[in-house]
Amino acid sequence: MSTYDLIIRGGTVATAGDTFEADVGIKDGRITALGRDLGEAEQMIDAKGMLVLPGGVDAHCHIEQESSTKIMTADDFYSGSVSAAFGGTTTIVPFAAQHKGQSLRAVVQEAHERAGAKAVIDYAFHLIVSDPTEQVLGQELPGLIKDGYTSFKVYMTYDALKIDDRQMLDILSLARTEGAMTMVHAENNDVISWLSERLLSRGYTEPKYHAVSHAPIAEREASRRAIDLATLADAQLLIVHVSEPGAAKAILEARNQGLEIYGETCPQYLFLTAGDLDRDGMEGAKFCCSPPPRDKQAQEAIWRGLTNGTFQVFSSDHAPYRYDSSGKFKAGPNPTFKKIANGVPGVEVRMPLLFSEGIGAGRLDINRFVALTATNPAKIYGLYPRKGTIAVGADADIAIWDPDWERTLSIDILHDNMDYTPYEGRTVKGWPRTVLSRGRVVVADEELQVERGSGEFLERQPEIRRLTPQGQQAELDPGRTFGADLM
Ligand code: URP
Ligand code: ZN
Ligand code: ZN
Repeated sequence: MSTYDLIIRGGTVATAGDTFEADVGIKDGRITALGRDLGEAEQMIDAKGMLVLPGGVDAHCHIEQESSTKIMTADDFYSGSVSAAFGGTTTIVPFAAQHKGQSLRAVVQEAHERAGAKAVIDYAFHLIVSDPTEQVLGQELPGLIKDGYTSFKVYMTYDALKIDDRQMLDILSLARTEGAMTMVHAENNDVISWLSERLLSRGYTEPKYHAVSHAPIAEREASRRAIDLATLADAQLLIVHVSEPGAAKAILEARNQGLEIYGETCPQYLFLTAGDLDRDGMEGAKFCCSPPPRDKQAQEAIWRGLTNGTFQVFSSDHAPYRYDSSGKFKAGPNPTFKKIANGVPGVEVRMPLLFSEGIGAGRLDINRFVALTATNPAKIYGLYPRKGTIAVGADADIAIWDPDWERTLSIDILHDNMDYTPYEGRTVKGWPRTVLSRGRVVVADEELQVERGSGEFLERQPEIRRLTPQGQQAELDPGRTFGADLM
């Protein structure tokens, strides 16, 4: 019996901490050696001139999920996971989404039924909690957290999903005691609906007014409020898909005070602007997502946030709705901005875009790239060290990148089930040639190499955090947190 099933030879390995020349020995789906002269294995991959990186962890993607207005994403777990793999991602964390009135247990079961026979890479689920009833807060959610569904998203906007501040406190407090991570879509619903009504009543209906209605102030205010509520509850919180400099500043300030606040941003806030929503005819619908892309200055602030400690996670927020009556135009051929399905695709291009414009343009080093796209999300969501790194004992989830492979983005080269990409015509340099998941070659020679359903569900563990100094106070401090007695 040989020592290794597979050796990746001659490449440059990069993790979140180090860059070094090493061969990678793999046995039974795990990395079992890093070094030189590992000998021969049944399968050898020549990685000379290549970068050997941890497979990406995309911790925010909507796959085979119905939107709040009951529109199904274009990707199911097969096309979504295949597309992820071709872009160097080996773990996805989509959502098991509760719509009002639904049992959380039931939506989790449905998510498993959807994913199990289709996913080609490994996956976990975040929950979406939109209906925190007594039953959900008292039984379903604590039970699900114990069972390893240790992260969930809540919404401060979208009429069908939003929770109020009181419900948010209930949820944060529960996450605090049960050991889960709350993710928040932070936009002020009243600001958006007030602006939307005014715009529509004056005849401003085109896609570009989506960005006007989702004003920066709506995101800024809600982000600050969410941070304040988490501070009060002494809970950790991750603000997803941050687009706006004021929200980014609030996150950084909170982090600098030692609060457990995390930030995530996405490609659309680095590579698109509100100007894209003003393209000819209804083309702007292709760029409608929430929060919307902002202006050039905001783009620069978001880029800075990737290196100044604001953002720990870079996700796609892949929310694929086709440019047809199944998706963007489900409400009719010429909808107002309010009726256009929200979301942009990006699961495959997430890492190549950041590689090209981050590392290639000198904004990020390779280790920061790995941290943002793989290691940090794995750590934050309880998948590390199994996922998100190259180390002895970790799953052999590896993307072998050709740093010189230049490609022009086009829907024709992507593997999702979409009919457009927002990044059509953009040239990027750097793309993975070979992608492994648990030692299985998933992508090689520009072809998929595995069967549908060969991905596995990833179990996680709740992590009860130590109380912060404020939380430890026996005497309740009315100005700061609940204190231990109220948890
Ligand atoms: O516009 C977006 N981002 N749609 C997907 C749902 C969400 O809010 O993440
Ligand atoms: Zn969201
Ligand atoms: Zn999302």
